[in-house]
Amino acid sequence: MDRIKIIGGNQLNGVIPISGAKNAALPLMIASLLTDDTLTLENLPDLADVEQLIRILGNHGVDYSVKGRRERQGDAYSRTVSFTARHIVNTEAPYNLVSKMRASFWVVGPLLARMGVARVSLPGGCAIGTRPVDLFIDGLRALGAEIDIDNGYVNATAKSGLVGNRFVFPKVSVGATHVMLMAASLAKGETVLENVAREPEVVNLAECLNAMGARISGAGTGTINIDGVETLSGARHRVIPDRIETGTYAMAVAMTGGDVLLEGAKPELLQAALDTLARTGTNIEPTKTGIRVSRNGNGLQPVDIETQPFPGFPTDLQAQFMGLMTMASGTSHIKETIFENRFMHVQELARLGAQISLSGQTAVVEGVASLKGAPVMATDLRASVSLVIAGLVAEGETEVNRVYHLDRGFERLEEKLSGCGASIERLSG
Ligand code: EPZ
Repeated sequence: MDRIKIIGGNQLNGVIPISGAKNAALPLMIASLLTDDTLTLENLPDLADVEQLIRILGNHGVDYSVKGRRERQGDAYSRTVSFTARHIVNTEAPYNLVSKMRASFWVVGPLLARMGVARVSLPGGCAIGTRPVDLFIDGLRALGAEIDIDNGYVNATAKSGLVGNRFVFPKVSVGATHVMLMAASLAKGETVLENVAREPEVVNLAECLNAMGARISGAGTGTINIDGVETLSGARHRVIPDRIETGTYAMAVAMTGGDVLLEGAKPELLQAALDTLARTGTNIEPTKTGIRVSRNGNGLQPVDIETQPFPGFPTDLQAQFMGLMTMASGTSHIKETIFENRFMHVQELARLGAQISLSGQTAVVEGVASLKGAPVMATDLRASVSLVIAGLVAEGETEVNRVYHLDRGFERLEEKLSGCGASIERLSG
């Protein structure tokens, strides 16, 4: 199994190109199931999760083709890929595929809307919490689907098609918002979704669906209106830059000091995180081509955060920010409100010398003067990268194991960081 070796102590200076967003790419790819025409996605990141979803979609009959060579944007290698679901050959998504990637459960929406039937395995728990699917089920039932659960599978049918309705989400969910957007686009009549997720990835999906002929308005606000259409066509659509990758590298620069341009990054996608970083004493400067992040020799100020749905501070940057706060000059409080168990990185950061205690959903981080390198291991994507951030300043060698977690969501992480002066390399086997 690959490992990443880091020798801490180098500042980061230079340019890091930001890739297409994983969490935008996945629902966009799934939207290809809604039409027999071709959906072409530009700026698709080259990630293990994208490859896995290509395999999962292939099981339903989606063909794909990579157009020409990868498009070069700085040093990023995101690609243009076309997806065509001419014929849906299978409306079942089995456990062995869905359990590998939770987002593949979302195929339930387009399969049901287009084929009137879907049988999709429950995804099961994961390292960050139990993650139920009740909101998907209640939402699709509101559109007239009949749903039962047997042997770990969700069986959904809508023999005469889905019918538009009003549905109020009792809790904000990104995935359930994506699924309801896709399903309601092909429902008969009007759907009103309230208390929806306002994440940029939802807006990106709504724009893509509109380019395919859907009639969606209000994405990015708390209420979305959808006028159902009979069929959707193909389209060409661009994946937005990855705001979590952007925030992660911004925190890495805040940690090491230095001066880096995050090329292609868009500040409006992560304003809350950038404001938080500015309060730590990090300079954040939007430029014409991205975001410039720098920090000189001054220490890091401790800042308290609470994760929130967009536009609040994202849960997907919580672990990285905790990594940063381990070296702040004082105590910070980090409250996780989205997932119940997203603190698996705490014990591993402690192996590097961090002082963190947990009190319910809040981590209390006492900044230390230095961290010391050690072998560490992580349980999920964002936790792994928080260990990389800490490793970049830890004295001596840090070895991050289970690199496959990083490969799920960070395109060429070690290349991007070493290109800015970090001592970081992948060790195979
Ligand atoms: C998306 O997951 C992201 N994944 C996650 O990123 C991200 O952490 C999360 O949104 C929150 O921003 C993708 O986009 C692929 P939710 P999702 O439904 O949609 C509860 C990463 O590291 N809930 O918004 O699965 C749920 O348990 C990943 O890239 C229900 O209770 O998250 C959680 O507490 C990890 N019932 C809360 O809602 C449901 O039916 C928000 O989850 C659905 C969700």
